[in-house]
Amino acid sequence: MKLQQTIMSNIFILLILILAACGTAPIDECDDSESLHQLADFPVGVAIDMSLLHSEKIYADLAIEQFNSITPENAFKAINIHPKQSIFNWQTTDLLADFCNTYSKRLHGHTLIWHDQLPNWINDFQGSRDDWEQLFREHIQSICTRYRGVAASWDVVNEAFNNNGMLRNSVWRKKIGDSYIEKAFRYAHEADPDALLFYNDYDLAMNETKLKAVLGLLGNLRLRGVPIDGIGMQMHISIQHPENTQIARAMKDIYEAGFRIHLSEIDVSINPLGKIINPTAELLERQANKLAAVTHLYNEIPHRYQYGMTFWGISDKNTWIRYHFGRDDYPLLFDDNYEPKPMYCKFKEAL
Ligand code: XIL
Repeated sequence: MKLQQTIMSNIFILLILILAACGTAPIDECDDSESLHQLADFPVGVAIDMSLLHSEKIYADLAIEQFNSITPENAFKAINIHPKQSIFNWQTTDLLADFCNTYSKRLHGHTLIWHDQLPNWINDFQGSRDDWEQLFREHIQSICTRYRGVAASWDVVNEAFNNNGMLRNSVWRKKIGDSYIEKAFRYAHEADPDALLFYNDYDLAMNETKLKAVLGLLGNLRLRGVPIDGIGMQMHISIQHPENTQIARAMKDIYEAGFRIHLSEIDVSINPLGKIINPTAELLERQANKLAAVTHLYNEIPHRYQYGMTFWGISDKNTWIRYHFGRDDYPLLFDDNYEPKPMYCKFKEAL
């Protein structure tokens, strides 16, 4: 009897050790009977990279299972979709549109007009203001027309403001003038009157001056009948910044001004200063709490202003932060092996 008891308790201890070694204990507590978008009262989106969608089955499975809104991470950017003046490359965006159609995902187009990721032919283009305006209009309207009734919405203008609240001196502003912003929205609307049109930018919660400038301009344009439906707050945030009170204030300012809010590019950095770090349990817990706080705040805004929460990628392995800023970071819901992180579970609880 005694021997039997000892054997049983040894087996029990062994089982515990095996479970602990797998390191799955906290995540297993996460209820996975429903996926993220099934739990949420608003769309839960993700930025998608077409080549990963083809090459990594688990990436595609998670995209299909967990999210119901898709933002192509790079495919709609001018450098990819409009590589030469006379050439539009529809291949990737058509495939993404098919993917959205097959799996009933909302397609959010990003982005029509931006200062970055432009092909050389645009940066080097020589011509009068009229020539520039024609190029600009053709770029916007060719894309919006092709995806009319397919893309639910567009980031029409991306990052038009500097941090000091002045308009960024992008090539569009230099060549067309300040009115390029108004024109972009009008042209997009002309090509697809049913699509919802967004202005998208970063640091809107962190930087009050910038938010004021954005709301000032968009409010004025709206009074003059320019079709602007919402604002994308990118939400490239960290476990420290911005403060939750800043996020709450910014969201309130935006919806009180009558604009829908898309948290359009969420990632939560645990290493904003670029030190060498380990993603310790404590840091991952803080990260989970930060996203949960943002989610609670987003849940509190009136439903009609919630366009959705979109994550800027699926797995830490592919986050733009690593290759763009060259730093070690772990900002997304799934780890390098596509395992759900504490942030995933806390997000579910907060939804
Ligand atoms: C990033 C992509 O994630 C990268 O793959 C690309 O190399 C650079 O652009 N703000 C935006 C996004 O609006 O389009 C950017 O995406 C991230 C910052």
